[in-house]
Amino acid sequence: MSGPPTSLSIDDARRRFSEEISEAERAASTRGGLAPADVAALHVAWLGKKQGVLTDLLARLREVPKEEKAAFGAGVNALKQEVEATLARLDETAQGNAARAREAAQAVDVSLPPRLPAIGRLHPLTVVRRRIEAAFRARGYSVADGPEVETDYFNFESLNFPQEHPARDAVDTFFVEDGGEGNEKLLLRTHTSPVQMRTMQRMKPPIRIICPGRVFRKDDIDPRHLPVFNQVEGLAIDEGITFADLRGTLAAFARTFFSGKAEVRFSPTFFPFVEPGVDVAVTCALCSGKGCRVCSGSGFIEIMGAGMVHPKVLAAGGIDPERYTGFAFGMGVDRIALLLHGLPDLRLLIENDLRFLDREWVSEVGS
Ligand code: DAH
Repeated sequence: MSGPPTSLSIDDARRRFSEEISEAERAASTRGGLAPADVAALHVAWLGKKQGVLTDLLARLREVPKEEKAAFGAGVNALKQEVEATLARLDETAQGNAARAREAAQAVDVSLPPRLPAIGRLHPLTVVRRRIEAAFRARGYSVADGPEVETDYFNFESLNFPQEHPARDAVDTFFVEDGGEGNEKLLLRTHTSPVQMRTMQRMKPPIRIICPGRVFRKDDIDPRHLPVFNQVEGLAIDEGITFADLRGTLAAFARTFFSGKAEVRFSPTFFPFVEPGVDVAVTCALCSGKGCRVCSGSGFIEIMGAGMVHPKVLAAGGIDPERYTGFAFGMGVDRIALLLHGLPDLRLLIENDLRFLDREWVSEVGS
């Protein structure tokens, strides 16, 4: 059986090999170059034990005339080595392509907008408290602290609420212990005013402190009352302090905290620990004093109590009332937050409803 000259068959095979490679490369060019599977397919087609082109060529050695066998065999072997070398080189390229494709699949697209973790916001009460603190720190006040479980002495007695005084009824509270014989009654403090007394007993004038903190009263819960709420107490004591200082300080606070145009209005009232005592109202932040539903048309809203520290209270604090005078004030943080944001119900502040908390509470009014 005589086929085409065998030397040509080897050359044909070599040409076909390079054509198949070009074709495979062309086909792979749109998907990032040859893949290891492409090279593996060529490997099977050319070097496969069963049907590989080179295996077939070698099988034809039998048909080759004796005198050409040596040259044919050498030719096939040479081609086989070329094919092996080429496929090995292509396999290396293909492995590289595959690695790059894997990397690209995992790569982070830094131009995509980031998925931000959910970070919380400051609670509206925290925002208000911090702004109150900042307004007073800027005027030389420092922040003091005191216990939430107080003695009857600090909460009432030393602040000039004698036993059985009717003013105690206004702030019915939670007693923790009745104390028993010879022991002090313990209670949840009804106001932050006991921190005044603790401060006076600890410091010498001049004193300028504020004290933010939680207070407790046996109030039934409704839109305007919670049994736990927050106050900021203030105390200034020095020689020569007058009611004008009280007025100036609170007016300056109102302008810093609410608006540059806010005014304060005082009306006389009674607190056992001050004399005289006043209720302090500021220009309504919602209507700027024009009169609205929130301020009941008056243009003013009451936000704190204040007064000149009672001489008996100074004395109980170890401060000579003949030499020193001072003023004190106490404001409700929850109430201020309510007014500032026009909230309909105090309970919003404690229910932890994210639809409420997830708003931007930072200074919508004032500075
Ligand atoms: N302690 C009062 C209250 O709980 C508020 C208050 C009024 C504080 C007058 C003061 C003050 O320091 O002088 O309602």
